[in-house]
Amino acid sequence: MSLVSAHNLTKTYRSGDIEVSAIKGVDFTIEPASFVAFVGPSGSGKSTLLNMIGCLDHPTSGTLKVLDTDIATLDRRAAAHFRGENIGFVFQDFNLIPVLTVFENVEYPLRMVQKWPAEKRRRQVMRLLEAVGKPKRPLFSKTVA
Ligand SMILES: Nc1ncnc2c1ncn2[C@@H]1O[C@H](COP(=O)(O)OP(=O)(O)O)[C@@H](O)[C@H]1O
Ligand SMILES: [Mg+2]
Repeated sequence: MSLVSAHNLTKTYRSGDIEVSAIKGVDFTIEPASFVAFVGPSGSGKSTLLNMIGCLDHPTSGTLKVLDTDIATLDRRAAAHFRGENIGFVFQDFNLIPVLTVFENVEYPLRMVQKWPAEKRRRQVMRLLEAVGKPKRPLFSKTVA
């Protein structure tokens, strides 16, 4: 099983009469345990591609499979679940929710999307935070500066 496979993948944005072709018939495969970078000038479609691999947006045509799931078949709710189970993002900015604490930020998707019970969430949050090192800010203070 490949991690990601694209076949004749296209993405076209439409705003009114204007069409922008961001991805035009792309084919590629990403194998497990590989390290891949998409490199190209501004406007070449990197973010468009990552948004689709991250199940944040749908292809216009062609197929894109992530872990053998055709992402075009996922509605918003199913996509949210799929992301929660399988995909990690490191955004350029942190996209933390400033009114929540460090603990609550990590806990949020487990609570709102995965709907795990409190004790299971607490154990997972502590495990994840320990895995990336102790945060500089106390766990239970708000992330807003
Ligand atoms: N939401 C959008 N609506 C219309 N056009 C878009 C949208 N997002 C990106 N584009 C266009 O799609 C092309 C690819 O953009 P993008 O994926 O952001 O490239 P990159 O991340 O490589 O800079 C560009 O021409 C950009 O202007
Ligand atoms: Mg970009």
